[in-house]
Amino acid sequence: MPWEDFVYKLLFDLVFKKMDPEKAHHLAFFWIRLASSVPGLRGLVRLVLAPRDRALRTDALGLALPGPFGLAAGFDKNAVGIDGLSMLGFDYVEIGTVTGEAQPGNPQPRLFRLVEDRALINRMGFNNQGSARVAARLAARPHTSSTPVVGVNIGKTKVVEEADAVADYVKSTERLARFADYLVVNVSSPNTPGLRNLQAVEHLRPLLSAVREAADRTTPHHVPLLVKIAPDLADEDIDEVADLALELGLDGIIATNTTIGREGLRSDAARVAEIGMGGLSGAPLKERALVVLQRLRARTGGRLTLVSVGGIETAEDAWQRIVHGADLVQGYSAFVYEGPLWCRRVHKGLSARLRAGGFRSLAAAVGSAVDDRTAA
Ligand SMILES: Cc1cc2nc3c(=O)[nH]c(=O)nc-3n(C[C@H](O)[C@H](O)[C@H](O)COP(=O)(O)O)c2cc1C
Repeated sequence: MPWEDFVYKLLFDLVFKKMDPEKAHHLAFFWIRLASSVPGLRGLVRLVLAPRDRALRTDALGLALPGPFGLAAGFDKNAVGIDGLSMLGFDYVEIGTVTGEAQPGNPQPRLFRLVEDRALINRMGFNNQGSARVAARLAARPHTSSTPVVGVNIGKTKVVEEADAVADYVKSTERLARFADYLVVNVSSPNTPGLRNLQAVEHLRPLLSAVREAADRTTPHHVPLLVKIAPDLADEDIDEVADLALELGLDGIIATNTTIGREGLRSDAARVAEIGMGGLSGAPLKERALVVLQRLRARTGGRLTLVSVGGIETAEDAWQRIVHGADLVQGYSAFVYEGPLWCRRVHKGLSARLRAGGFRSLAAAVGSAVDDRTAA
């Protein structure tokens, strides 16, 4: 094991593992933000950790990105550490989920590690400062040439009735769309009661149409709109969402969120049962996330931007998603287990695979294992 990996494993075992996972998250995030606020340090760290391989550069959603690998929603819910996260090498950062109104989320404890499974279970419940405050924070950010791409992920305020969900998403859109490089309608978190019902096309159609309209009303430029779906959808429902996305002219789909399933875990069953409700993420999600991606690709044939997330730990995992049709990839849980050098490792591995496969660009590798572009 390289020494720098050994240092993080030691830090994880001696410090983070002994702490409540949510407290460990806040501590690690505090350090990241602190480091990125030191004059000169941010650029220096970025120089070492961020990708420099031109072949990894990619255009997706009309955005020029230094690479395909982003931080998934949920880590920076309030957009407080975008520059620090970009310093660590993420090619883009998806903030949120942000809801119409501020809310505290579920009672703690609400985040749990399953170390043997390299997984997490969370029932955070969209704890966030609300769309008005997050919009003000994004508005205050200076824009420079090194400002990373920022996706904004929105969801429903818990106390808002399902019947009023559209208005809540529209409120967030009106406040946030102008600051978003892309916008994500999250209808797939298992921790807000009823939220996932919005994935049914009869609910999703008016919701996505209203968000699209609100975004177009509030910004003169086109903000790419994506929908984020659950891995627990039946295959036919995945097809229906894909068809709807095409019908409505959506820009893409993010798949997947966490699962309510608990199959195939190595962790002690009694402990898993004791943890209780929540979304499972990390390695156990790998297989299903790939299957969902393959299904989406087969249905959409390269006509939508596909963002694959769920169980990506290594460069090989990210590569698998790319060759099966993912234009972009994201991760969250493995960041906890792999530490601050994670992005560098993934980028290095991706560069090596591009070269070994004789691909001149990342775009050339996207979907190369399915080769269905002419059929679409
Ligand atoms: C603690 C935690 C909080 C999360 N919060 C959100 C969220 O607010 N919105 C969202 O769309 N996804 C959220 N997610 C899901 C992730 O964005 C991602 O879809 C999922 O964890 C699968 O990726 P992974 O296996 O790489 O973690 C959260 C995940 C975790 C572990």
